Amino acid sequence: MTKRILSCMQPTNRLHLGNYLGALRNWVKLQDEGQGDSKNECLYGVVDLHAITVKYDPVQLKQATREIAAAYIAAGVDPKKSHIFVQSAVSAHAQLNWLFTATTPLGWLNRMTQFKEKAGKKKDQASLGLYAYPVLMAADILTYKATHVPVGDDQKQHLELARDIANSFNVHFCDGEEFFPLPEPVITGPATRVMSLRDGTQKMSKSAESDMSRINLTDDADTIAQKIRKAKTDAHSVPANEKEGEGRAEAMNLIGIYAALNDQSQEAVMAEFGGKQFSELKNALSDLAVAKLSPITSRMSELMADTAEIDKILAAGNEKANELAQPIYQDTLDIMGFWA
Ligand code: TRP
Repeated sequence: MTKRILSCMQPTNRLHLGNYLGALRNWVKLQDEGQGDSKNECLYGVVDLHAITVKYDPVQLKQATREIAAAYIAAGVDPKKSHIFVQSAVSAHAQLNWLFTATTPLGWLNRMTQFKEKAGKKKDQASLGLYAYPVLMAADILTYKATHVPVGDDQKQHLELARDIANSFNVHFCDGEEFFPLPEPVITGPATRVMSLRDGTQKMSKSAESDMSRINLTDDADTIAQKIRKAKTDAHSVPANEKEGEGRAEAMNLIGIYAALNDQSQEAVMAEFGGKQFSELKNALSDLAVAKLSPITSRMSELMADTAEIDKILAAGNEKANELAQPIYQDTLDIMGFWA
């Protein structure tokens, strides 16, 4: 059976190495999986409606949206194989969002741990949209009846909510018949959790204050090399095995990044560099990172230099996405008793 795969990123700040190794690289693999009738159908969205739940700059939003799309393409998402679209250009997302918002119990959202982290102590100042955003995420998925959703660990709970919303719709409105398939998480290969270069216990993040903590997909070769050279390590030599790496988050992070970029196991990397100075690992890693990332960063800047191409790709992707989403939205209206 054809899998319909959907995943999305928000156009907030810049993408970094963690987004590439943890997500984009897998999206590219997924678009080539399956053959003939069972070939995957992949939709990759830039979800700009999500970006406005926190403070944002309207002048920059459109450009940020293009930049995320450019990163998808530069990383290898092929517009001939996958549909790349912008959420705000497909009205069914926002429309379905209301239908789900109106019928989802508050208690389900009260459980979402990410809101608690993001809103922090200033809960009253957080927007209603930030609170309700997992419902919009469910709409993103169900708008296409997506069957599989590649997501990182931090999004598993939101995907679980999307399943609950789909199931509840099927039970309440369709006598338990499956109108919305329950979307499944996709785990591709060993999970690559890329951590901050300054603190190996924190995820590499686009919102972390220090730019030295992450490698952006817009960094040039010198910057990448410098960030790796300055990455935090410890006073010992490179661990030679898992046991030696215990409790050494920064060391294991560099090994993990090396392994992921080189399609190797961490064990193999430790066998090669174990017992050596960190400077040796860092030199090799910085060469490897530059070799793997510079084709992506240069393609990205090419695409951003002349946005006509990217706008054309997005126009085609939006058209296709609308084509898929509209009938599903119409059916949903009809089932719920509206004038469809
Ligand atoms: N919430 C996701 C994130 O912050 C982005 C996202 C929005 C998403 N809609 C989605 C991911 C639908 C997968 C499917 O990373």
